[in-house]
Amino acid sequence: MAFEPDAEFAAAANAGVALYDSATADRLEFWAEQARRLHWEQPWSQVLDWSDAPVAKWFVDGKLNVAYNCVDRHVLDGYGDQVAIHWEGEPGDSRDLTYSELLAEVSRAANYFTELGLRAGDRVAIYMPMVPEAIISMLACARLGLTHSVVFAGFSPTALRQRCDDAGARLVITTDGQWRRGTAAPLKAAVDEALGGTPSSVEHVLVVRRTGIDVPWTEGRDLWWHDTVTDASPDHQAQAFDAEHPLFILYTSGTTGKPKGILHTTGGYLTQASYTHHNVFDHKAGQDVYWCTADIGWVTGHSYIVYGPLSNRTTQVVYEGTPNSPDEHRHFQIIEKYGVTIYYTAPTLVRTFMKWGKEIPAAHDLSSLRLLGSVGEPINPEAWRWYREVIGGNRTPIVDTWWQTETGAIMISPLPGVTATKPGAAMAALPGISAKVVDDDGAVLDNGSGLLVLDEPWPSMLRGIWGDMDRFRETYWDRFASQGWYFAGDGAKLDEDGDLWVLGRVDDVMNVSGHRISTAEVESALVGHSGVAEAAVVGATDATTGQAIVAFVILTAEATNTGEQLVAELKAEVSRAISPIARPREIHVVPELPKTRSGKIMRRLLRDVAEGRELGDTSTLVDPKVFEAIAKS
Ligand code: WT7
Repeated sequence: MAFEPDAEFAAAANAGVALYDSATADRLEFWAEQARRLHWEQPWSQVLDWSDAPVAKWFVDGKLNVAYNCVDRHVLDGYGDQVAIHWEGEPGDSRDLTYSELLAEVSRAANYFTELGLRAGDRVAIYMPMVPEAIISMLACARLGLTHSVVFAGFSPTALRQRCDDAGARLVITTDGQWRRGTAAPLKAAVDEALGGTPSSVEHVLVVRRTGIDVPWTEGRDLWWHDTVTDASPDHQAQAFDAEHPLFILYTSGTTGKPKGILHTTGGYLTQASYTHHNVFDHKAGQDVYWCTADIGWVTGHSYIVYGPLSNRTTQVVYEGTPNSPDEHRHFQIIEKYGVTIYYTAPTLVRTFMKWGKEIPAAHDLSSLRLLGSVGEPINPEAWRWYREVIGGNRTPIVDTWWQTETGAIMISPLPGVTATKPGAAMAALPGISAKVVDDDGAVLDNGSGLLVLDEPWPSMLRGIWGDMDRFRETYWDRFASQGWYFAGDGAKLDEDGDLWVLGRVDDVMNVSGHRISTAEVESALVGHSGVAEAAVVGATDATTGQAIVAFVILTAEATNTGEQLVAELKAEVSRAISPIARPREIHVVPELPKTRSGKIMRRLLRDVAEGRELGDTSTLVDPKVFEAIAKS
């Protein structure tokens, strides 16, 4: 059954069918039209230059400043007193920042970064919890043409170091500590650990005081935000940058152990982030109170907390903590407190709310909500229905938005007020975007399951993998090289009506609570332990987190511990080496791993074991008996 758009909603919606029509009529002119929603210092001479495919140039010769578009412009238009950010701290403190205040803070940071000697093109790592200074730092970088690389504050020192080295970061911005369920956990100490030992490209560490915990200090290298940025001038003149100037690098997991630094540039990225935020969320400046629950450590935080919303003069909630601190009411209290109208979260959280029970949301007035969004993984129809009924009061449209770190912005989604939605379906490519479902040979399907490809370039597409353009071509473009299509790594299905359902990854990338984790990365963390000779990791279906990590390990002769103690040690090792989000749910110690004659681990069979299924075809295994041993483990 499809949910037809509500007539009243449709009448006032930002988007209409006309949007599809104009995009079909002239795709490039359509994108030019969307780009004109921004302020350009210098107009472009050409909308798209695809001559160097797969590296696109959008809005060639155009110049603009991202921070000017996200902040200054609104102040100059007379909206300086509008709240940009209602910030809600985990321990219960809060802070509102108007657009004028945000401008002053971003300008201070920009002035101080300049004083530090940072210049356009330099890289800055941001390793911070969800505090206003994190957003201010990103905008200050954008303002100066510094390329930021935000590293999720849950990542390990090793992961941070790897990213700083790869990007060649000159500055790391962090906090003394971060609040996690009522306790202050050190964060600056992790930066010290990351940068200790061998010399790195990092010259300074700028520290925001958040929790007040003691921090070790390296004189000359470390700087307090409140001694530096706070004293800088609140006036700063933004300068325009080329539309293709690198805006940010964001690392994401691929199919090998090494994370990929996804590169995004300025003009096309902001155009699509802004356009999608306006239309997919039906955002009305000055009226809506928007809340995207992501962390700035992920692309959702970049495009739908920072760049999309602020470019559209959004008033938004930014929350520092977890949904259950101090208790499971927190999100609903926040919705009630600020009158949130648009709420954007991940299916894993919806399923967690389901587990906690409807009594919790029912204890709050959620009637301000008028639109709900979902992102990060396929949303199962049951969760979709619950979301609409219990959170959305059977009233709100739901937009299931498919996109990736690489796509920079939403690609496939219903348009609220326009699209009749089906629970669990992302429905169709947005106006201006072209997606196809194809078979292994690249034949285009009009129904059934296959691989998801994007067959036309789009403005916010990645421009490469930082420092590794060969890997960029291999990963995304070689699969359908003769057609020139982008291979997303996801499977998808077109139903009998031609509506699109995203089925999830078809490669060795797992999706745990909407977080992308590579099997290879977890395997390499496991073999980092002296007791492990070999490891194989699979993502097994999990009712709450979508997938959960299940590992199979073979021990070395030196392994001293075995059994439960070893398993606990290995789980801790993965948390330490990567992040607690990569901690395996189960680790099985096995005598052997199932391999093909060419030495490839048969993950498909391990997934059968992990999910307790009958084994699939074992005929290509060197030794099918391996499974008797694995099943007994
Ligand atoms: C992968 C991208 C997009 C921001 C958050 C994740 C999966 C994402 C959906 C959706 C089904 C989805 C895909 C994709 N995914 N959104 N609505 N339905 N799957 O960004 O870490 O780059 O992960 O997340 O598998 O390839 P990411």
